[in-house]
Amino acid sequence: MPRFYITTPIYYVNDRPHLGHAYSTIAADVQARHRRRRGDDVFFLTGTDEHGSKVERAAAKAGKSPQALVDENSLAFRALFSKLLISNDDFIRTTEVRHKAGARALWEAIRARSPDDLYVREYEGWYCASCETFFVEKDLKAGKCPEFGHPVELAKEKNHFFRLSRYADRLLKLYEQRPDFIRPDFRFNEVKAFVAAGLEDLSISRSTVKWGIPVPGDEAQTMYVWIDALSNYLSALDFGGETRRYETFWKGGESVHLLGKDISRFHAVYWPAFLMAASLPPPTREFVHGWILKDNQKMSKSLGNTVDAGALADEFGADALRYFLMREVPLGQDGSYSDEILIERINADLANDLGNTLNRLLQMLAGAREGKLPASSPDSPLARRCAEAHPRVAAAMDGFNYKVALDEVWRVLPAIGSLLQQAEPWKLARDPGPAAQAKYDEIMGGALNALAWAADWLDAFMPAKCAELRKQLGLPETPGRLGEFRWPLIPPGTATRRGPVLFPRIDMTEYLAALRAGSPMTDPKSSLPPVDATQPVPAGSAQEAAALVEGARLAAGAAPAKPEEIRIAIDDFLKVKLRTAVIIAAEAVEKSDKLVKLQVDLGDEKRQIVAGIRKAYAPESLIGRRIVVVANLKPAKLMGVPSEGMLLAATNAAGDVVLLTTDPDKDCEPGAGIK
Ligand code: MSP
Repeated sequence: MPRFYITTPIYYVNDRPHLGHAYSTIAADVQARHRRRRGDDVFFLTGTDEHGSKVERAAAKAGKSPQALVDENSLAFRALFSKLLISNDDFIRTTEVRHKAGARALWEAIRARSPDDLYVREYEGWYCASCETFFVEKDLKAGKCPEFGHPVELAKEKNHFFRLSRYADRLLKLYEQRPDFIRPDFRFNEVKAFVAAGLEDLSISRSTVKWGIPVPGDEAQTMYVWIDALSNYLSALDFGGETRRYETFWKGGESVHLLGKDISRFHAVYWPAFLMAASLPPPTREFVHGWILKDNQKMSKSLGNTVDAGALADEFGADALRYFLMREVPLGQDGSYSDEILIERINADLANDLGNTLNRLLQMLAGAREGKLPASSPDSPLARRCAEAHPRVAAAMDGFNYKVALDEVWRVLPAIGSLLQQAEPWKLARDPGPAAQAKYDEIMGGALNALAWAADWLDAFMPAKCAELRKQLGLPETPGRLGEFRWPLIPPGTATRRGPVLFPRIDMTEYLAALRAGSPMTDPKSSLPPVDATQPVPAGSAQEAAALVEGARLAAGAAPAKPEEIRIAIDDFLKVKLRTAVIIAAEAVEKSDKLVKLQVDLGDEKRQIVAGIRKAYAPESLIGRRIVVVANLKPAKLMGVPSEGMLLAATNAAGDVVLLTTDPDKDCEPGAGIK
């Protein structure tokens, strides 16, 4: 049985996980699930990187011990991964005894096999604690870390060094012998160019960092966090220990590291060099993925633009989030995240093409055939379509080309929709003639078997929903081995079981309204595209949401966006119908500590508006106030309560909401227009 070892990077635990971390892990999980279904003996590893100055500092700042901080944050990663349906076989923490033993064993192996390649020298360099990397002065950009502009500090210490400079030729030879060692190709080329330009020796210990693994033979020093971290790939296999895991999966199988482009140098250059020095084989392959961007920048804690993957999974479901992340951009490229695109994908691809098609078909079948599946011929158009798609999906999955695989599935699903549209089986069902009945069976059998294949192909992406899909189709929830194409996949006569809607539609307007009411489903600062001030702001659009977010930003005390970013033409402003109104009734919205339900009089009509002002105003104190409302806002529901408009309010320096009201000394009838 082929052995397949797949790893994610181990995550820094100086902070909580975000969508970028989820991305790396989901991408690896999809491959692990795919390979298991291909019949491989898979070992899928993820974990947390817990040593180093970054953690030491974060713990000091939080007033905690490093161990307490890493315990807490490592748990947060585990909890997130379980929510995201990650099927890892092991979770390694670098503070575990087994890891420390493995890391020291690797160091010892380097010293035993290549004693000349380890030496001690006085070193002075610029250290970026955020990247845990030394830089030479010429590489700094404006005195900051060249990669992310983090602050750097001059560090002078006596360190252990690894003679990396000697490894350039051997690495280039390895790259030549293994043309697919690094994927995708353009990343491989970057690595080759970096190595061809010559390598400098690498400091691999720190004398100032206490939170680390002591260097064997020089216990006053700790291992540089990257040699510590990279050795997790071996320590989890019990390298230097008793079990056969290392022999089975590293030496006896295919080993693949999945990682982000920011850490390709460590994996593609340092790691194989360390392994060569220890006379150990390099991994089989490394797949380098791109970044999830937010507002055109890498999503990261230090830039403050993170999105909470757990909150997204709670709101939209883990399967939908997994699908979206793998569908939107080819693995290897960068991709931007926005809630809007996520919701659009869920509604169009999952709720409509997949869930709704299933629901309609099962409903029809329940009426016409008591839910029993008709036979389907392998010559039917959908059978042929699926037969073509099957090897393409499999090949794309093998090559980590997830988007290609999903695009392929989404050529089949709309084909089901078109066939139904054109053949109208609901009409055929009512025609008792044998020809119509035979045609009905052919269409329904074809469509449902195509859906069964979709559940098969999509299983690695959406394991829980595909299990549900299969259950409704009357198939076992656990998918079979991924094998040769066959048709039909569902035995004729199988009793289907129509169940709950697979993917409920998400109401974008309601989502935006929740943002407006200050109870966003995700972090408003980080989940929407930037404001495009040159365009009108259509209600319910991303720009509207961005404008709301700008409001939320200001309310949170952030500096206003630069004026040129938010200037609009007068025509745009005039699209917003502002009117005066008088509050005639007000009550708190149940189960919300923010929302108040108001009845307002606009002169010619009365309306209900829900506003997030309860913290600043007791409901009864609002009655009789003359306020300003946006009268032409699309109606929305906030916590299930309908709202037809929005009132205007400012936020003062203390963060309190201040209602905008009309001049109390002047008469102004309710409903008067404002400009
Ligand atoms: N601890 C090191 C890895 C050591 S592996 C021996 C590290 N940790 S990290 O937490 O900063 O990043 C871990 C992984 O998350 C990397 O693959 C990184 O690319 C990925 N991501 C972090 N932010 C990301 C995005 N915004 N987008 C996609 N992935 C990104 O580096």
